[in-house]
Amino acid sequence: MFNKFIILLCLFSVITAQRYPGININNYFSRNYFDDQQYTKINAGIEKLEHSPQWVKDWPDASVKLGQVSGVAIDPSGHILVFHRASNVWDASTFSITNVYQGIGEAAIAHPTVMVFNETGELVDMWGENLFFIPHGITVDGSGNVWLTDVALHQVFKFTPDQRKVPALTLGEKFVPGEDETHFCKPSAVAVHSSGDFFVADGYCNTRIIKYSADGNRILQWGRRFGSTPFTLNVPHALTLAEEHAALCVADRERGRVACFRSDNGSYVHSYSHWLIGPRLFSVAYSSIHGGRLYVVNGPSNSGVPVRGYVIEYTSGRLIQTFAAGESLSNPHDIAVSPAGDVYVAELNPYRVYKFVDDALRNESFKQEPTNSSHAKPTATVGRKSLTRRRWEYGHGEFKLRRLLERRRFTRVHSDDSDEEPAPMLPPQPSATA
Ligand SMILES: *[C@@H]1O[C@H](CO)[C@@H](O)[C@H](O)[C@H]1NC(C)=O
Ligand SMILES: *[C@@H]1O[C@H](CO)[C@@H](O)[C@H](O)[C@H]1NC(C)=O
Ligand SMILES: *[C@@H]1O[C@H](CO)[C@@H](O)[C@H](O)[C@H]1NC(C)=O
Ligand SMILES: *[C@@H]1O[C@H](CO)[C@@H](O)[C@H](O)[C@H]1NC(C)=O
Repeated sequence: MFNKFIILLCLFSVITAQRYPGININNYFSRNYFDDQQYTKINAGIEKLEHSPQWVKDWPDASVKLGQVSGVAIDPSGHILVFHRASNVWDASTFSITNVYQGIGEAAIAHPTVMVFNETGELVDMWGENLFFIPHGITVDGSGNVWLTDVALHQVFKFTPDQRKVPALTLGEKFVPGEDETHFCKPSAVAVHSSGDFFVADGYCNTRIIKYSADGNRILQWGRRFGSTPFTLNVPHALTLAEEHAALCVADRERGRVACFRSDNGSYVHSYSHWLIGPRLFSVAYSSIHGGRLYVVNGPSNSGVPVRGYVIEYTSGRLIQTFAAGESLSNPHDIAVSPAGDVYVAELNPYRVYKFVDDALRNESFKQEPTNSSHAKPTATVGRKSLTRRRWEYGHGEFKLRRLLERRRFTRVHSDDSDEEPAPMLPPQPSATA
């Protein structure tokens, strides 16, 4: 009896040890994870990537207090703008089931919600008080205009550099969710093209990308709620423009992918996803460094993959780098990358914003001739515009038919002065709920 107990005890300890391999070595994700094989695979996958850029621990000034940090952006002068919720939080009681904000009647956040830091992490400006309820996206365009979204207000705002108290442009109706031409439902993000045209990701409850001309007139929209087509979006959460590639890329959050579309006509180009990034992808930022790179952050999921930042080569689709503040991130919500390759990540919780610097890139930019010794160790090819990928997206037999159907799903918005019957703005939805 006693012997049996000892044997059991030994067995148990052996199993336990196996279940927590490498507890003190480089384990890049939470340890409450039990599958050795998966654990080994993930660690091996991460080991193959270059660990870069590096976290700058003392950035920004720690005395600056932030609430939930929902967005981060870089302005043309190199300042870093952080959009945060101060004392407000988005939790289960924030909205009704019909997406109406439950704090209507309360005052807007009295604290400045836009905090401006310089490169060395000192607070150089702050604004955005008495305007917002649940801040979400922030983008700065090439002229220094700041574009903000508030999911409680269901609105999108543009602020010019000389007027930070009154928006120069407001889209959507205050506190009124909707999916028609004049309403959004928890719009998440804006991207602004150098031509002045801009895109809105709408958003948590709608599944569309809307393109506007600089003056705020709708030009185009796309996106589907149902199915698993390239156009199906499940929380389009962030946007970035890859202008050299004429593409608008969307962080399609709950589908764990970056989906890129032609920025001129919304045609699908390709998407990126990877098992190491997992099923949730919160934000994406494009940089033209080395022919183009996408910087992404994933998010917590039950897939066992760690929450980290990743860098993907735009053209090859290769996953080349990974980074985190310490072992992993917690709830990264947005990402921005400077022309020099400095990366900023906003974390919803803990209330933090992190800076990462790629020394190799910085050194390179001081050299006369470009280095060709790749510092990246490409390992994995993520989904890109290959036939295999397309087959996977469309399903073997139906490839051609689906492709044809997809092409027809774009709808050009008719301008107001058109006397034509407006085309349906949203593609026909299946009547079954999904
Ligand atoms: C950042 O701002 C602080 C305070 O205004 C200033 O002392 C510092 O030199 C600035 N750093 C840079 C890189 O401009
Ligand atoms: C978008 O433009 C490309 C290139 O001209 C074309 O191949 C594609 O069919 C267009 N898509 C739509 C939906 O118009
Ligand atoms: C960048 O240059 C600095 C100073 O010359 C050097 O100490 C550092 O090791 C270099 N880093 C990389 C990644 O090349
Ligand atoms: C890199 O540059 C060296 C000389 O500068 C050259 O010999 C080599 O072929 C280059 N490698 C690639 C991959 O271009």
